Amino acid sequence: MTAQLNPRGDVAVLVPAAGAGVRLGPGAPKALRLLAGEPLLVHAVRRIAAAPSVHTIVVAAPATEVEAVRAMLAPVAPVTVVPGGAERQASVAAALAAVPAGPEIVLVHDAARALTPPHLVESVAAAVRDGHDAVIPVLPVVDTIKEVDATERVLGTVDRSALRAVQTPQGFRRSVLVAAHRSAGDALTDDAGLVEKQGIAVTCVPGSELALKITRPFDLALAEHLLTTGA
Ligand code: CTP
Ligand code: MG
Repeated sequence: MTAQLNPRGDVAVLVPAAGAGVRLGPGAPKALRLLAGEPLLVHAVRRIAAAPSVHTIVVAAPATEVEAVRAMLAPVAPVTVVPGGAERQASVAAALAAVPAGPEIVLVHDAARALTPPHLVESVAAAVRDGHDAVIPVLPVVDTIKEVDATERVLGTVDRSALRAVQTPQGFRRSVLVAAHRSAGDALTDDAGLVEKQGIAVTCVPGSELALKITRPFDLALAEHLLTTGA
């Protein structure tokens, strides 16, 4: 059944889904690869659409797959699909340009984080609603981290207590994200990085293990397992 989005919601979610998935190995673009029989993008959009504040979803699809993605998502939720770009940042910019007037909170969420629970979408949006210009979900870093030189010689041990691993959705006051993209220079993999460069404070909220990014075959296997255990 197609989900209904909330016409009174204040959140637009941009879903960059135009990447090739090189690290996942040969095959279709990553967002279209199957996880438990359904494309990663279907899993991702279904969970976004289940978040009650979401008014609009804009997907940036691989340029050759726009029609296929529209057809694929039509039974899942009402979404706008635009062609993505060569870099993630260009895909996000294309999706941002397609957001209609209305939502004043914009979240950017990787299709590759296909099992992200709806409550994380809500908690990031709520922090923006509470007055934070830019909000990122984070987890503590569990491994010991070493800095090394080009020959793999250890230069030192980094203080892990001050480090965080960053996930998506990343949330922004709309005008802040628009300004950051307008003045974007080098391509970054992270929208909060663009906002940081503007000198704007970025706030952390607790992330979720389920928001893992499916990057390598191991992650896909882990996601399959998590789905069989109820994710
Ligand atoms: N993405 C995008 N447009 C691009 C590159 C990436 O929309 N030109 C999206 C991906 O589809 C993904 C998210 O950005 O949902 C995070 O990127 P990543 O995990 O690196 O995915 P890929 O770029 O597809 O993977 P790889 O780097 O292994 O090729
Ligand atoms: Mg990539």
